[in-house]
Amino acid sequence: DWTMAAYKEEAIRLIREQVGDSKVICALSGGVDSSVAAILIHEAIGEQLTCVFVDHGLMRMNEAQEVVSMFREHYNLPLIHAEESDRFIGALEGVSDPEVKRKTIGGLFIDVFQHYADEIEGVKFLAQGTLYPDVIESVSFSGGPSVTIKSHHNVGGLPEKMGLKLVEPLRELFKDEVRALGRELGLPESFIGRHPFPGPGLAIRCPGEITRDKLEILRKADAVYIDQIRKHGLYDEIWQAFVAILPVRTVGVMGDGRTYDFACALRAVTSVDGMTADYYPFSHEFLGETATRIINEVRGINRVTYDITSKPPGTIEWE
Ligand code: XMP
Repeated sequence: DWTMAAYKEEAIRLIREQVGDSKVICALSGGVDSSVAAILIHEAIGEQLTCVFVDHGLMRMNEAQEVVSMFREHYNLPLIHAEESDRFIGALEGVSDPEVKRKTIGGLFIDVFQHYADEIEGVKFLAQGTLYPDVIESVSFSGGPSVTIKSHHNVGGLPEKMGLKLVEPLRELFKDEVRALGRELGLPESFIGRHPFPGPGLAIRCPGEITRDKLEILRKADAVYIDQIRKHGLYDEIWQAFVAILPVRTVGVMGDGRTYDFACALRAVTSVDGMTADYYPFSHEFLGETATRIINEVRGINRVTYDITSKPPGTIEWE
């Protein structure tokens, strides 16, 4: 659309003017905001931009690989894949408190990002996908006031600490405008319409202590669930949908044998801004078919429940 085309040209001009011939780093999460910011800045200044994708090992199935290959191959954007899952999973060992999980992940994220950024010489700017709503209000989560929507990437305090200035080309835009700009920049529709994904990733969808086994089971179950939602044409009607693996094993039967495996909960909500939400009214057929598929296709899960809590009083995530 013509307004976005014009906006894009103007934004590119402003980025060039602000940055000059300095180097810029950007923490890429794979979310729409940081992706659009990165691609826009890359159009403006090319190789002066380096992105760092901090892979904490808490992404969904194939997600890290998809993000990395899209930016490297499709956009030809200089991207460092900081594969640090061992550090993150290691640091989370024995941690079950949701707030401690968030702080552990957030703290390590900053350390890792800073480490990689330090290796690039002559960096003067940090790019962020800050939107207008992030500027006017600080949204807090179940996690409490210390955690804001950009908590994970808005490396709060880091720009000052590293002596960097901020480049925030999306500061005047609302979410739907960022999506329109993303389309203008050629981002695939499947990417633009993606459900939001929290910075701490699967860690907060695995209530209690995290283990590699649980994460692996969770990834598989989540992939089956999202596949079902897409196949039934429901993805775009839903704000967010995911599986949480529950910290409880229950008894089941399989053939002649007894199983003793994890239970999981399916979550799907509609929402306008994530502040309030209603559970999605799936048909019983959909739920039954999905439960059967998960139990048949995912070893380690033998019971599926559907979370019918709205927000408030529930939160969208389980932690
Ligand atoms: P809750 O669970 O509080 O979530 O109803 C509201 C929205 O925020 C996301 N969320 C987070 N995003 N870091 C993030 O970047 C977090 O710690 C965090 N906690 C929740 C959640 O996915 C939903 O979209």
